[in-house]
Amino acid sequence: MKVLVTAGPTHEPIDPVRFIGNRSSGKMGYALARSALRRGHEVVLVSGPVALARPENAVLVQVKTAEEMLEAVRQHIEWCDALIMAAAVADWRPRCIKAEKIKKRDASMLLRLEPAPDILRTIAPRKGGRIFVGFAAETRNLKEEAVKKMESKQLNLVVANDVGEPGSGFESDTNRVTLISSDGRTDELPLMTKDEVAERIVKWIEERRK
Ligand code: PMT
Repeated sequence: MKVLVTAGPTHEPIDPVRFIGNRSSGKMGYALARSALRRGHEVVLVSGPVALARPENAVLVQVKTAEEMLEAVRQHIEWCDALIMAAAVADWRPRCIKAEKIKKRDASMLLRLEPAPDILRTIAPRKGGRIFVGFAAETRNLKEEAVKKMESKQLNLVVANDVGEPGSGFESDTNRVTLISSDGRTDELPLMTKDEVAERIVKWIEERRK
């Protein structure tokens, strides 16, 4: 199987020295890439800025912004059999990027934002027979919000990710997720290592492809 994985945050520049980002370390996405490779699949890993080693044998495409990540996903979508969007893509970005460093003159500053491209929604018309797996990072109404994302983003599987609980979500080595598939099956997993969570997701895709 050919698996396209996205991982890490995106950084949306404000000026040459500052950006808007989030706390994603890339650990979940890199664990997915490693798991798919271990299980004999080909992997293209599209990664935002992270401090992790490239999984051996993965093709690594490094990007910074949501726009660049969208472009990389566009370029590989025809190639893949499954897309796993573990990246924490920015929802908003600064409307204009200043060419020079903004000087600290005032006590407060207004930053005007615009929506960043939604990669899953943009790519959905090119889904064809591919399996799309998305994550839903939530701090409340976990399952309800995850189901909404599954429907609006045409996902076969949504990984509902409780990011409010200690040891789960951003930066940690462990994660607590519920796998919700489009056929209505729900699998609530206990706190596991990200490697173990990744293994469950990759196995879910393999079962689905049979
Ligand atoms: O990287 P780690 O530190 O290991 O942390 C892991 C994680 C918490 C980042 C990961 O497990 C996770 O939950 N990733 C998804 C984070 C996220 O952006 O969730 P969301 O609910 O905002 O987005 C829903 C889905 O749409 C996601 O699959 C996301 O990749 C995708 N999306 C989001 C925004 C956007 N502009 N385009 C997208 O395609």
